[in-house]
Amino acid sequence: MKNIAVLVSGGGTNLQALIDAQARGEFLCGEIGMVVSSNPEAYALERAKQASIPGYILPRKNWPSSQAYTRALVSLLQEMGADVVVLAGFMVILTEEIVQAYPNKILNIHPALIPSFCGKGAYGLHVHEQALAYGVKVTGATVHLVTAEPDGGPIVLQKAIDVLPWDTPESLQRRVMEECEWKLLPKAVDLLCRDNLKVNGRTVEIIGGRVIV
Ligand code: GRF
Repeated sequence: MKNIAVLVSGGGTNLQALIDAQARGEFLCGEIGMVVSSNPEAYALERAKQASIPGYILPRKNWPSSQAYTRALVSLLQEMGADVVVLAGFMVILTEEIVQAYPNKILNIHPALIPSFCGKGAYGLHVHEQALAYGVKVTGATVHLVTAEPDGGPIVLQKAIDVLPWDTPESLQRRVMEECEWKLLPKAVDLLCRDNLKVNGRTVEIIGGRVIV
């Protein structure tokens, strides 16, 4: 069984999707062993508590630099024996030390179809504001492996939905979460824990075929 660490900063609806998938028996080779929050007030910590998952608080302001913070985080993850790391709405910039410690073992979920609407400034509601302002007819979510380049790692899974004429950033955010993020993330975590992802450069081959979510 792989020991899964989930990193959060906010509401934790993606964490909840993982907890629910685990409760349904969908993780064949992994178990959520810890939740780490950069924000002491994050509701995600309450979700972890409800599911009897140990929660750790690592406030960014307690470390002088991103590198020092990343090193402290990696130490904690290694100490607790984490095998796989999931960034589920983790709002802190990490440095490459974590990628070196967990090569191709870190997943991130982004609420757009990468390479659109990602990178600097593309977080939270801003992503959906950018998509609406650009006039795209589809948007969605992406789960990718984390590399040193922000939002730039190899893509594991993507799902698209239509943008509707009456969409607001809020309505789009909600539908992208419900119809894409909460489905994609548990699937990708299961595939990674089962060692079913083969990375060739930018391309991720899913061993055993295509995944439909
Ligand atoms: C999600 O939209 C996720 O894609 C992004 O941050 C948000 C986190 O939401 N990276 P939640 O805390 O999981 O509810």
